[in-house]
Amino acid sequence: MAHTRVGDLLKTGEIGTAVTLQGWVRTKREGKGVGFLEVNDGSCLASIQVVVVQESLGGALKQVNTGAAVQVLGTLVASQGKGQRVEVQAQTLTLVGAADAETYPLQKKRHSFEFLREIAHLRPRTNSFGAVFRVRNTCAMAVHQFFQERGFLWVHTPMITVSDCEGAGERFQVTAFDLTQPALPPKLDFTEDFFGRPAYLTVSGQLEAEIMAMALTNVYTFGPTFRAENSNTSRHLAEFWMVEPEMAFCDLEGDADLAEAFLKHIFRTVLEQCPEDMAFFQERISDRVLDNAHKIIDEPFARISYTEAIALLEHSGHAFEFPVHWGIDLQSEHERYLAEVHFQRPVVVMDYPANIKAFYMRLNDQVDPQRQTVRAMDVLVPGIGELIGGSQREERLEVLEQRMRSVGLNPEDYWWYLDLRRFGSVPHAGFGLGFERLVQFMTGMGNIRDVIPFPRYPQNAEF
Ligand code: 4AD
Ligand code: MG
Repeated sequence: MAHTRVGDLLKTGEIGTAVTLQGWVRTKREGKGVGFLEVNDGSCLASIQVVVVQESLGGALKQVNTGAAVQVLGTLVASQGKGQRVEVQAQTLTLVGAADAETYPLQKKRHSFEFLREIAHLRPRTNSFGAVFRVRNTCAMAVHQFFQERGFLWVHTPMITVSDCEGAGERFQVTAFDLTQPALPPKLDFTEDFFGRPAYLTVSGQLEAEIMAMALTNVYTFGPTFRAENSNTSRHLAEFWMVEPEMAFCDLEGDADLAEAFLKHIFRTVLEQCPEDMAFFQERISDRVLDNAHKIIDEPFARISYTEAIALLEHSGHAFEFPVHWGIDLQSEHERYLAEVHFQRPVVVMDYPANIKAFYMRLNDQVDPQRQTVRAMDVLVPGIGELIGGSQREERLEVLEQRMRSVGLNPEDYWWYLDLRRFGSVPHAGFGLGFERLVQFMTGMGNIRDVIPFPRYPQNAEF
């Protein structure tokens, strides 16, 4: 007999039908002659109540504890209890996998997220993490749906590269050398290594996505990226997923339009498909979750230049830890002031100073050379700060070569990237969305380590 998922039973299950239920016991209660199990299988937030008459099934019930896996054959009946439409009257109860009530770490009480991080192999069995991973799944599907409906091709960029897209030197090195050998030479000869040169885990698929866009016009990547930045913050991971669209024949305004339509689509989809999980986040995690979501969907994003943003911060009367003046890289406190306090909705900041941004961004024609800017944009959102970083790319060969040299890159190392400017170069633009920051923003979860199943951060890669 095919087994039935809890979500289907609770929503559409017809009273009187026979069901086979499989799942994990969240709680067990015993009354006079009857036992009650709350069984959850991850298909939805709610568990389903299973009523066990002890006369017939008391023996089996004794062995079943919180955390155990069970199979129940029974009948769906109208529930007497409040808050649920139906419950299962058990005919047989089978213990599939026992759990010792004494040592099972998840008890009925609320556990802190810090504690749950230490048992990341069990935390998917809690309400909060079930909800996070269902919403994360829906976000991922919405990403693909958005691009596929618009004719973007999903391209698969490599995870191992030799370039440093962001130029920040925050790369993990990849080697086939056995670095545990006691007698390593003082200087390793990487011509002897697997790739014949130093190689790294990618920090971004952008450079390769540009190659693909220069033939296929509109593409996107969606995959893991890696950064060895030693940031112990609630918004940084060493391994995170990034979504990177890249569009040929597109400028920065078109790029910002895409980012806005994209975020609106994802929020709309999640509100439609995960109403219970979103209501849970609103009630238990942050009372701004639904308001945020509706603002994203209903209101146009604000758009300002970096120069305007600096003026705004300078005149805000707010005391920032990091002093504000033209030329600084915006800190999280500045970004959040703009999005949270001033605009109270997402804001796209454009045209940043050239010397705080990566080499590939298109130089603006400048009146004041002291204030050289590039066609960069960041999408800042309440509670998070930077959610998206993007730019129009430098498509002019000489300007790009010049810029590479000025930041200490050797143009010869990037010959293929420059070839794109030699042969059929066009204006093009794209952005990168931090997928975990999106899920964080969507759910109101305070720490990015709690929106990815197995977070990677300094000193942690247990699971
Ligand atoms: O702003 P970033 O560094 O931009 C790029 O990598 C570009 N190559 C993207 C592009 O234009 N195709 O990163 C993009 C986004 C950030 O806005 C942030 O949301 C996220 O990636 N991000 C991180 N998320 C989690 N942990 C980290 N350590 C992150 N670093 C960046
Ligand atoms: Mg950035």
